Amino acid sequence: MASTPTPLQTLDQRFHLHPFTDHDAMHAQGTRVIVSGSGVFLQDAQGRQLLDGLAGLWCVNVGYGRAEITDAVAAQMRQLAYYPSFFNSTTEPAIRLAARLASLAPPRVQHTIFCNSGSEANESALKIIRGYWKLRGQPQRTKILSREFSYHGVTLATTSMTGLPSCSAPFDLPLPGFLHVPAPHAYAADRESDPVAYGKWCIEETARVIEREGADTIAAMFVEPVQGAGGVIPPPAGYLAALRALCREHGILFVADEVITAFGRVGDWFASNLWELDPDLISLAKGLTSGYLPLGATMVSDEIADVLLHHGYFAHGFTYSGHPTTCAAALANLDIIENDGLIPRVRTNLGPYFQEKLRAFAGHPSVGEVRGTGLIGALELVPRGGKAALTPTMMLGIKAAALARQEGVIVRGIRDIVAVAPPLTITREETDQLFDAVGKALDRLED
Ligand SMILES: Cc1ncc(COP(=O)(O)O)c(C=O)c1O
Repeated sequence: MASTPTPLQTLDQRFHLHPFTDHDAMHAQGTRVIVSGSGVFLQDAQGRQLLDGLAGLWCVNVGYGRAEITDAVAAQMRQLAYYPSFFNSTTEPAIRLAARLASLAPPRVQHTIFCNSGSEANESALKIIRGYWKLRGQPQRTKILSREFSYHGVTLATTSMTGLPSCSAPFDLPLPGFLHVPAPHAYAADRESDPVAYGKWCIEETARVIEREGADTIAAMFVEPVQGAGGVIPPPAGYLAALRALCREHGILFVADEVITAFGRVGDWFASNLWELDPDLISLAKGLTSGYLPLGATMVSDEIADVLLHHGYFAHGFTYSGHPTTCAAALANLDIIENDGLIPRVRTNLGPYFQEKLRAFAGHPSVGEVRGTGLIGALELVPRGGKAALTPTMMLGIKAAALARQEGVIVRGIRDIVAVAPPLTITREETDQLFDAVGKALDRLED
């Protein structure tokens, strides 16, 4: 340990398994215990204030400490803390939230089944898709396409879709039938000088995979409109429209995994609206409650819903599908996004400002590429010798994130990437503070 562990750190070390963590390395430093939050700021157990440039885990869209959500949750809990949506029953918040989502989503996607996380939203989508094709008389359509560098969750099937070997290799995944096609990550392919051409090549390669496998064996393609955890990869111009058209041409269902991109981060309620993706299904979580309570959702097109609704018993769902308290939290959260005008704010004000500040790093000697849109962005870091001198073990992003934390801000290190996605409520001054700290961290990177 860096210093004598506190009683809480000792308990944590003895009893608590953390997600996605090297436990020995963590406990050598002492677990960071976060105790409170307000706006974009967190306070840790040592009383240190940190600006949260990652909105928790890309999710606290409305910022911390919003009494509107805690009040709604408390009121719902006092009235009816829980009742399932099984047994031909449900509760008012679940109904109202499904209707609210329908009013915000693309017009063809109007039906929602709830769950508890992004992984479950995608897992539910996978099962719905499988059931749909069986009911449609095409049970051979079982294969699933996703992209390299994608992140779709951690269940067996969603890990199989996730295109990150660091997530799948430890578990000998993917399962059979999960196919990965290239992502439009031009920088990783050394094609950064022409991302649009590289995006076109990705589409051609995806078409070749469809041809090779046989289109009528492929059930669906899962797509994050902006790939997040894989390194913040926004789509190059024309790429998503071409991918959508390719799927449609072959009758392959198109699933927008909007777990990060929905609810304002890219300047719209849904990236699917912004970029006219016309998806068949949408996966949601994170910003749906701004992380105040765990809630996921799978939205499906009217056509899919029609098949599911009129073929008898629908054998899927969780104890907490449509949990009234989490749905009440979501409704209050959506009210805040709407009443505070967070979406136009991201689209026309804070988003452009954030991107301008991010792009100011383009000339920095430690930065090889800057990417982003709305309130999500990434810096690809390079050593002094430039991109050619990078090695897989450098992990410059992880190092830079640790330095940024010493400078008072939380950002995410992914391989050699620094990823930033603050609450949508961040002010210009706080944005300056965030990037000033990132700048100081980059200046110290090679010390
Ligand atoms: C795009 C995307 N899909 C799915 C997930 C999985 O969500 P969860 O961690 O809530 O299971 C994530 C989580 O980061 C995500 O970013």
